Amino acid sequence: MNRSELETTAQAMVAKGKGILAADESTGTIKKRFDTIQLESTEEARRSYRELLFTAPGMNEYISGVILFDETLRQKTQDGTPFAEHLTKLGVVPGIKVDTGAKPLAGFPGETITEGLDGLRERLAEYYQLGARFAKWRAVIDIGQDIPSRFAIEANAHALARYAALCQEANIVPIVEPEVLMDGDHTLERCDEVTSATLQAVFAALHSHRIHLEGMILKPNMVISGKKCPNRATPQEVAEATVRCLKRHVPAAVPGIAFLSGGQSSAEATEHLSLMNRIGGLPWELTFSYGRALQEEALKAWGGKQENVANAQKVFVRRARLNGLARSGSYEPKLESEAA
Ligand code: 13P
Repeated sequence: MNRSELETTAQAMVAKGKGILAADESTGTIKKRFDTIQLESTEEARRSYRELLFTAPGMNEYISGVILFDETLRQKTQDGTPFAEHLTKLGVVPGIKVDTGAKPLAGFPGETITEGLDGLRERLAEYYQLGARFAKWRAVIDIGQDIPSRFAIEANAHALARYAALCQEANIVPIVEPEVLMDGDHTLERCDEVTSATLQAVFAALHSHRIHLEGMILKPNMVISGKKCPNRATPQEVAEATVRCLKRHVPAAVPGIAFLSGGQSSAEATEHLSLMNRIGGLPWELTFSYGRALQEEALKAWGGKQENVANAQKVFVRRARLNGLARSGSYEPKLESEAA
């Protein structure tokens, strides 16, 4: 493990005014996204769409890193430059999703365990050769009647820590992502309780596995009401509860916390991040690692049509810029009405 290389990469990922683009949708997930614009998910369609995002003029002013899927890491721009090389030249760190998905946890109905540890050491060595300098592993914790169980939280925390240790051995910065889902009708308080228990278990496991905290990034959910909760908390309440929860569980040695958007609208995800940064006095960088909240508007503007590429790129960069402003708490909802 080269600690200084890990620290340098982690610092670049959480650079001020920028954040991470999650473009690591698996083949199944990107198909679902393309279905929303009635586009068939062929390998070339997936490549063109990722090229649209990665070559958007000015994207590197607001994007510090991009999470890729295995297929994408092996693809190239139209002029034959591998995506990882193209991004690196722009000063954007390429990363790779390495988990193989959340599968039903035997004996625990309704709960999942994320797989992908077998052969991971060898895959990480190859990914490093291909240019990846960070990785992502997502654990999924669902809230429902009698779930999550303590066991599912601990099993997922253990897998996250084993993954993180293998990454650091390979000089790849692990993004540790325990996602408490916002599906369901639970309150913000219930989300707080489950997020707290999850982060506590995750950091205990990371400690046991001797993770170098300065060389990792945490990617959590925000503490937020369930989508179907009848009395959803206000943006300011989400910001305050999230910061309080993170302060209780995330050591100051962790350089940055990069939120997932998890089904929030693009504007909501930007506003929440901005309000949190406005609270200030935080020991870590608070940034974004959004998938849907960065891409949704651009995907719609593109609609799978070549003639819309330039406009979709503008729409994407605009959203990235608004999130860049949220990094310093200087985003205002009124900026939403500005043209791309
Ligand atoms: P969302 O921002 O769409 O939740 O995706 C982020 C991500 O990488 C989930 O693993």
